Amino acid sequence: MRQGKIFLLLLFGCLLAPAGFCGTNQGSSSDSILYSSFFPGETWYDTDSVHINAHGGGILVTQGIFYWFGEHKTAGYGGNTAQVGIRCYSSNDLYNWKNEGVALASVDDPDSEIVRGCVMERPKVIYNQKTGKFVMWFHLELKGQGYSAARTAVAVSDQVTGPYRYIRSFRVNPERWPMDFTEEMKNATDDPNLKSWTPEWVEAVNDGMFVRRDFKCGQMARDMTLFVDDDGKAYHIHASEENLTLHVAELTEDYLDFTGKWIRVMPGGHNEAPAIFKRNGLYYMITSGCTGWRPNAARSAVSGSIWGPWEPLGNPCRGEHAELTFFAQSTFVLQVPGMKNAYIFMADRWRPRNPIDGRYVWLPITFEEEKPVIRWMDEWDLDVFKK
Ligand code: GAL
Repeated sequence: MRQGKIFLLLLFGCLLAPAGFCGTNQGSSSDSILYSSFFPGETWYDTDSVHINAHGGGILVTQGIFYWFGEHKTAGYGGNTAQVGIRCYSSNDLYNWKNEGVALASVDDPDSEIVRGCVMERPKVIYNQKTGKFVMWFHLELKGQGYSAARTAVAVSDQVTGPYRYIRSFRVNPERWPMDFTEEMKNATDDPNLKSWTPEWVEAVNDGMFVRRDFKCGQMARDMTLFVDDDGKAYHIHASEENLTLHVAELTEDYLDFTGKWIRVMPGGHNEAPAIFKRNGLYYMITSGCTGWRPNAARSAVSGSIWGPWEPLGNPCRGEHAELTFFAQSTFVLQVPGMKNAYIFMADRWRPRNPIDGRYVWLPITFEEEKPVIRWMDEWDLDVFKK
């Protein structure tokens, strides 16, 4: 590990720490690390000197504090299943993170949808101004069913760090057509014997074959994110239709359900791991292709409205290993409050054989001709946004 900008804090070393740091560090071992920069791809330690365990995560900023929610992974085979649940960390500078414990725990009850051993992925938390509640959504797969349930799940809390009360899981928007679906698309009949990946099959998928198939029971929801717009409306964006098409779906005013308003984005485009942000009135999306835990080239898209049309902008990554997103996969884009044009691309380097060893790749987003661009940096800090 580079020592340059990392200071080992011996007990007396707290004197070196910025105001507030020692306070959040109480009870930790005597040699906590104080970071003042990011080291993409390297093990990142919390203020207890334990590596941060919050994969596929997202960040909520409330009352000037950053809260990072992510999947707690464990070691070895099965470490991608929810043995612990969703963990939360807090920070006031984005470099140093305090473990706030498990925000939503997987449970022992075999009848619960979040029984230990299920899959709880890509959690995101948003705050509802009207209800004063913190609302968590995540991708849920039922225990022992692989990835076939393809559900979204919701939990709620009065406190940002939880514990969150699990509400339910379900498929999205049953009996509701996408806003842009034509009568012809609604009424089309599909040949169930079409062979996958033939031109006819691809055309049928693009025309909504899976939307029709899942109309009654609701649309599939796997990799997901949330986005709250300036007007307080929130959206749930998820990989659907067997991961072939992303859906953008509006949440109700309390953020606990769907309104039934939704669209398909880039039908048949095979996008997942969506991350959304807004800049200068434009909506940007960064996604990945679908190769499971293996990295692939990121994609980006822009739209003047959350409802599209979304225009593909290609791979935002540049330089060596850009074609594999620097061996990582998008999970969230954080707009740093109080800084102009400051957007952080957050991604995961998965380690499926030993998931606990997964790493975080956070990189600054720059804009070239209004397109997002991401370049590798071994080490960087928030001053890059001041240049
Ligand atoms: C990835 C996805 C991860 C996880 C994994 C399972 O494509 O982004 O969140 O679901 O597949 O194989």
